[in-house]
Amino acid sequence: MDTTLKIAVQKSGRLLEDSLQILRECGIKVAESKDSLKVAARNFPLELYYLRNSDIPAYVADGIADIAILGENTVIESRRNLEMLLPLGFSHCRLSIAIPKGTAYPGTEWLHGKRIATSYPNSLQNFLKTNRVEADIHEISGSVEIAPNIGLADAICDLVSSGNTLFMNNLEEKEILLRSEAWLVSGPKITPAVCALRDQLLFRLKSVLAARSNKYLLMNAPNDKLPEIVKILPGMKSPTIMPLAESGWSSVHTVISEERFWEIIGELKAHGAQGILIVPIEKMIL
Ligand code: PRP
Repeated sequence: MDTTLKIAVQKSGRLLEDSLQILRECGIKVAESKDSLKVAARNFPLELYYLRNSDIPAYVADGIADIAILGENTVIESRRNLEMLLPLGFSHCRLSIAIPKGTAYPGTEWLHGKRIATSYPNSLQNFLKTNRVEADIHEISGSVEIAPNIGLADAICDLVSSGNTLFMNNLEEKEILLRSEAWLVSGPKITPAVCALRDQLLFRLKSVLAARSNKYLLMNAPNDKLPEIVKILPGMKSPTIMPLAESGWSSVHTVISEERFWEIIGELKAHGAQGILIVPIEKMIL
């Protein structure tokens, strides 16, 4: 039987679209399934399982799926021993405790004896234990933010991303338990053949992520300022410098992180750089 890499992703939820997008950028074509929960990629030996988020850690730990794209928060909550392979740079969020807006909150002691609604009982229990707080954990599986408004709890512990859901439900964030983003994770029961496929996928993902965070920078620079300009440019080895038709000027090309570019743009201009272009990189092979 041919070897296949089995990857679990969220059936629905905040990670789904970005998970499929990053696979597409890796050149892997998978149908976004509405009905079929197991689909094969058309051009890579990969099968994709659309699963309920909270079930995924167990499926991977038990070897039903080889790898998964999961929020770090879900891995921590599951208490499963999964290998964290690569942070994927999307679905940034935090797991936080929030209480009704306007409530005086002196610190974690406020939580003593209170009832806290959450879908993350393990993470919350860990936080309460660390802070020596005795509180009642009320586990619910969704719509957690409604709990204080309907008299079900005094506080909530849930994921916060933009903060919009808290705002709309008249809640204020008071404690951050953990910060999270999407990760590629792996289970322990992987054969060498599957491991080789997993490494191929990892290589592609790293190339996509490097391309996302870097830009190709082109500019024209006066020759007499080249030494100063080269000094402030990072470049993978060193920048490429080519003479322009107009004497006394060169074209300078390099790869730079977008963040670093904004830091040095003023210096480049001060050294006479002109015609500065920032171009997205499709893939960056490391
Ligand atoms: C999460 C979380 C909050 C919301 C926060 O729900 O449970 O309700 O996102 O996001 P915000 O700060 O951007 O408003 P999600 O949509 O992931 O689905 P869930 O209800 O299944 O947790």
